Amino acid sequence: MSPTSKQLDVLLTPAEFAALGKRDLRETVCVVFDVLRATSTFATALQNGAKEIIPVGEISEALAFKNSEFGIQNSEFILLGGERNGVRISVNGIDFDLGNSPREYLPEKVRGKTIVSTTTNGTRALRACANAKIILAASFLNLTATAEFLRQNNFADILLVCAGTRENAALEDTLAAGAMCELLADGNIHTTFSTSAEIALQTYTQSKSDLVATIIRDSENARRLLAIPELRDDVAFCLQRDLYPLIAKMEAGGGIRRN
Ligand code: MLT
Repeated sequence: MSPTSKQLDVLLTPAEFAALGKRDLRETVCVVFDVLRATSTFATALQNGAKEIIPVGEISEALAFKNSEFGIQNSEFILLGGERNGVRISVNGIDFDLGNSPREYLPEKVRGKTIVSTTTNGTRALRACANAKIILAASFLNLTATAEFLRQNNFADILLVCAGTRENAALEDTLAAGAMCELLADGNIHTTFSTSAEIALQTYTQSKSDLVATIIRDSENARRLLAIPELRDDVAFCLQRDLYPLIAKMEAGGGIRRN
């Protein structure tokens, strides 16, 4: 039965992740945004044919996966990806196969592969939602497809989770959440916006006519990436809207797959 009302909430900062563990998320759909860059990179990997992305919190967990019996038996299908301080991980003489730039996740590299990824905030945000009914990874690159999935299924309780930067809010994630709020505000169903959903929506509404310039000028993450010559093009790449018609959904086993 379709709901007659819908709750829309937004988590604006990673400082709130701890409280998620105490919240009953059994009926909640969590949509995680890490626009610069984890969820944009995951969408790109899936669009380019990756089988799944397994987000893990720590570098040691990614290495343990690769060195497990399963990992050794399937080593030709497993890639390690992610970043620390924005750049590809290299630890104890082991170089990860991929960094966290979506432009690296080319079809010839990722097709058919399982990618075990650890990033500073994005994978942490996904894992904080572990108890949710459904977990989706969203970005500007797959925004409308994700909104359509949420609308068609008439979910009554939606939480947009902004991955942020270290312990702080990130402007680009707030704006993407605001853009999602705009898409989800449905004239036929009464939608209750939490105060943080209102903040995200109003922030987006005020800057949507000049979104890319606003993010380039005011986002800490964008400025950090723009200062690294080999990563600067990631900013414009990740801010493209609706490049991919896909939903990135976490499955029961913990892998994010194309849906
Ligand atoms: C993160 O997960 O914190 C980011 O995606 C950082 C990055 O890609 O540089």
